[in-house]
Amino acid sequence: MSKPTSSDVVWHHATVTRERRQQMNGHRGAILWFTGLSGAGKSTLAHAVEEALHQQGCRTIVLDGDNVRHGLCGDLGFSSQDRTENIRRVGEVAKLFVEAGVIVLTAFISPFRDDRAKVRGIAQHGDFIEIYCQSSLEVCEQRDVKGLYKKARDGQIKDFTGISSPYEEPLKPELVVATGEQSLDECVAQVLSLLAQRNIAKQEG
Ligand code: ADX
Repeated sequence: MSKPTSSDVVWHHATVTRERRQQMNGHRGAILWFTGLSGAGKSTLAHAVEEALHQQGCRTIVLDGDNVRHGLCGDLGFSSQDRTENIRRVGEVAKLFVEAGVIVLTAFISPFRDDRAKVRGIAQHGDFIEIYCQSSLEVCEQRDVKGLYKKARDGQIKDFTGISSPYEEPLKPELVVATGEQSLDECVAQVLSLLAQRNIAKQEG
C-alpha cells in the first residue's frame, strides 16, 4: 500500500470484510488482467468471459481502456508516463472491486512489464491473473477494426503501440491465449478452465 501525501490520513477498517462479501457472492474476487496489442481482442474476450461468468451467477465488472479513457483517465494521453498513470489508476480501481468480492476483468494494452508488475504487487497473492492476448502485429494491423493502425502508419497518430511505441510481452503470464488464431469460444473456454482450476469460479455442466 502506498503512503498518503498527508500523514493525517488513517486507514479505516470495515466490519463487512472481503471474506463476508465473497461468502455472500458465492465466489472469490480476482483481477483478470487482459493485456495485448490494440486489436488483439482483449475487450471482446473480456466481455465474452464476463457474459459466461454472469450467467453462472458471478458478480463481475469489465474495465476497458476505450471506456475508462472517457472518464477516470480522460486527462491522459499515450506517452509512457500517461500510460503508466493510466494503469496505476486502473490497478487501484480493480483492487477496490476485488475488495468488494467482484471478478474484475480489465482490457488495457498495458504495454509495460513494470506497470503490470506494480498492479500485481498491490494485489493480494493469487488475485492477479495476467492473461496475454497473443496476436501478431500483422494480424492486428490487417484487422484494423478502428482504422488506427493505418493512421499510425500515415503518421497521423504518434506513439502508437506496435508501430511507434513498444509492447513488452509478458514473461510469465498465468495464461497465454492465442486470440489471433483461435475462435472466441476456444479462448473463453481456456480462461474459464483456468478460473475453475484456481477455484475462482466453478465451471457448470
Ligand atoms: S494503455 O497503453 O494505456 O494501456 P489503453 O488500453 O488505455 O492503452 O488504450 C488503448 C486504446 O486507445 C487502443 O485500443 C486504441 O483504440 C486507442 N489509442 C489511441 N491512440 C493510441 C496510441 N497512440 N497507442 C495505442 N492505442 C491508442
